[in-house]
Amino acid sequence: MAQKIVIGVLTSGGDAPGMNAAIRAVTRAALNKGLEVWGIYRGYQGMIEGDCKKLCSEDVSGKIQHGGTFLQSARSAEFKTVEGRSKAHDSIVKHGINSLVVIGGDGSFAGATQFAYEYPDISVIGIPGTIDNDIYGTDYTIGYDTALNTVITAVDKIRDTASSFNRIFLVEVMGREAGFIAVNSGIASGAEVIMVPERKNQIEKVRKFLKQRARKNKSSIIIVAEGLEEGSAMEIAEKIRPEFPQFDIKVSVLGYIQRGGSPSSKDRVISSLMGVAAVEALLEGQRSLMIGYKNEEIVHVPLNKTVKLHKTISDELLNVAELIGTYAPPKDPVEPKP
Ligand code: F6P
Repeated sequence: MAQKIVIGVLTSGGDAPGMNAAIRAVTRAALNKGLEVWGIYRGYQGMIEGDCKKLCSEDVSGKIQHGGTFLQSARSAEFKTVEGRSKAHDSIVKHGINSLVVIGGDGSFAGATQFAYEYPDISVIGIPGTIDNDIYGTDYTIGYDTALNTVITAVDKIRDTASSFNRIFLVEVMGREAGFIAVNSGIASGAEVIMVPERKNQIEKVRKFLKQRARKNKSSIIIVAEGLEEGSAMEIAEKIRPEFPQFDIKVSVLGYIQRGGSPSSKDRVISSLMGVAAVEALLEGQRSLMIGYKNEEIVHVPLNKTVKLHKTISDELLNVAELIGTYAPPKDPVEPKP
């Protein structure tokens, strides 16, 4: 007789709006298919410490509308060690857990891949959850859509005060070493310049823009992705202020508000699809893969590929951002052909 599937579900790394919807979907789909499911608290650290609870349908009621993760999260240094992973294995096996659903980002997937390799008795399915949207093999990660909308709302508000004073604002957004939040929020909020960590010498773009700035009596928004080689928004402002004393340059770091808030409909729906797909993958006998979402469809991606390969930002998107961001009238206007 086939072994009964007993799932342990956890959230790891940076929390992201929509994680609760994914936990709920994993739980409900598992229970409706006759499987057992355990919630593991505080990510891999809770797994090591045996901090878990068998979930029933009511445990995931009233959670879908909340940001954060009700299972809580952690960045576990201990799980990076052989001993830590061994403890984690022993502690889940004690509860009969033979399948793991890990909702997290690339750091969490690196741990998951290593764990699946070391412990072939445990099947591991990853669900991409990070506001950064920087995971290979999926167009979309849980939380990205909500975070993007949070940034756009904040930048719209900053624009109101910026234009009341003709100020230049450097707005720093999250994304670790990835510029997905920066470029798309920049396009959507009409930013004049967008600085992304994937390209070199981004500060030159700012200098060029400020030199060409057509009208002094106009506000400007410069989106600064964290993780730039030139430093933080604050450091960039300190470099450029003395070069452009004619401008009033301010900095606003959006920080952790980008991670919170009620998930958007897109985040709730795609998280739900991914949660169900994770349970179905386990029923199919899959044992080391990530559930992705590409071209509006669920896809399966080998877990180790998501760790080895990097998702890149497209040149086309960056070109669009540059083309519509700044307006510097040409010295000799091109005359329309008769
Ligand atoms: O991975 C998501 C993210 O929000 C990054 O954009 C950011 O750099 C990082 O987490 C900060 O996370 P923490 O301070 O929780 O470690």
